[in-house]
Amino acid sequence: MGNYQSEKTYLLGVIGGGVMARAIICGAAQAGVFAPDKVCICEPDEAKRAAFGREGFHTTTNARSLAENCNYLLFAVKPQVFPAVAEDLRGASLPVLISIMAGKTKRAVRTALNAEAKIARVMPNLPCCVGEGMAGVDVSELSEEEKTFVLGLFSAVGKAVEVPEERLDAVTGVSGSGPAYVYLFLRSLVKAGMEQGLTEEQANALALQTVKGGAAYAEQSGKSYDELIAAVSSKGGTTVAALSSFEADGFESAVSRAVSAAVKRAKELSE
Ligand SMILES: NC(=O)c1ccc[n+]([C@@H]2O[C@H](COP(=O)([O-])OP(=O)(O)OC[C@H]3O[C@@H](n4cnc5c(N)ncnc54)[C@H](OP(=O)(O)O)[C@@H]3O)[C@@H](O)[C@H]2O)c1
Repeated sequence: MGNYQSEKTYLLGVIGGGVMARAIICGAAQAGVFAPDKVCICEPDEAKRAAFGREGFHTTTNARSLAENCNYLLFAVKPQVFPAVAEDLRGASLPVLISIMAGKTKRAVRTALNAEAKIARVMPNLPCCVGEGMAGVDVSELSEEEKTFVLGLFSAVGKAVEVPEERLDAVTGVSGSGPAYVYLFLRSLVKAGMEQGLTEEQANALALQTVKGGAAYAEQSGKSYDELIAAVSSKGGTTVAALSSFEADGFESAVSRAVSAAVKRAKELSE
């Protein structure tokens, strides 16, 4: 594997230099996973290529030549663009593939490429843009060294948890789509605060810091959610009044139904 790596020009090739690719490779370069000059990005947009170039990354418009000159190839294009990319790569000698494309199963990727390459399938989420991402990662086809690379890549921009491919739809339902649930809750809390006389700025500061602080304390304290809820609730107090109202409105089952809907949709979109 060591010799094999040194034969290739780049450690990592990236197809598609958009929002997710930028977050992942810039975060990983900052964390010291690799030097920018070990990475080459294939991207049609000249301005995006120039921006990557200023940060020390190599760029290209030739996906096929890139695929043949890297140890790992990350597919970070939109799923609907993938058939055209696959057409370009057909018959090429492919390295270990890493796909973050939503809804594209390893089987679909392999069929489109008509190749037997090893594939890691990953479902990351948007907060990887600020180093606080969460990724579900299926690396079951990879060697230990390859697994370490892929897990290291996504751990550099947040956290990564290994799951079998058949659980990636569940990951989508919890953490892939999850940031939107947090924003919905935040928006509702800000609106409720304004209804109680706070300015938008005040309500937003209170809501945002409460979600951040609540998550940080949950993570650091190691307490269960029941214990944490109990720690904020005194008998006959304000929190209990709010929690009873949430319960009466079916909050937990609403969350459960929402996650089921996301997972169902992920399955429908998978190919
Ligand atoms: N955003 C998320 O929260 C999220 C979460 C999980 C997974 N994902 C997955 O991540 C992938 C990338 O999403 P994104 O939000 O980063 O999308 P994006 O910002 O649109 O990035 C895709 C990039 O691919 C480029 N591109 C288009 N055609 C290409 C081609 N033939 N060869 C090479 N590059 C090409 C696009 O360039 P132009 O703009 O010039 O067309 C664009 O820069 C998607 O498959 C998505 O399902 C996203």
